[in-house]
Amino acid sequence: MYNKTMENEKSIPKLGFKPLKILTYPNAKLRIVSKNVRPEVNLKEVQELASLMHKTMKFMEGIGLAAPQVGIGLRVITINLQDGKTNPLTLLNPVLLNREGQQDSHEGCLSLPQVSGDVLRAQSIDIKYLDENAEEKTLHAEGLLAACIQHEMDHLEGILYIDRVSGLRRDMIIRRYKKIGRL
Ligand code: CO
Repeated sequence: MYNKTMENEKSIPKLGFKPLKILTYPNAKLRIVSKNVRPEVNLKEVQELASLMHKTMKFMEGIGLAAPQVGIGLRVITINLQDGKTNPLTLLNPVLLNREGQQDSHEGCLSLPQVSGDVLRAQSIDIKYLDENAEEKTLHAEGLLAACIQHEMDHLEGILYIDRVSGLRRDMIIRRYKKIGRL
């Protein structure tokens, strides 16, 4: 997810890594239901994937990224609100425990560049997940962080935010995306 509608032109800095290619709508891989990570089998690979996802996300000015967006059907999410106070998160196999309230969330998505839309999300959520070291954690999140986690968890089910926008608005977003968003 990202919360900027337009990206600034910027010179490409020396990256020291190769950004992952982000799949864009309507790529069918974005619709796959992702599988659980099995830390006992592939934790090292998952850690490398998460590290690259964090770097790619930062480079793309995103605040959240899910593995299916880079063509990997595993339940891996990286989040970095980049607000100077919320710690970056890696969520493996996240599960929603509780949701409360409602918020209007203005969302964009790295898989639908240049467009954005309003989605109704829970105001606060509780989740459990494994962190990057496969340790079980729980998290209570509110506001933007909660919206971002819900957006990214949707990706693991093959759901995009535009699926949660009402019909007429969705058509508008897709039309606009087809005009300006596809690079
Ligand atoms: Co997204």
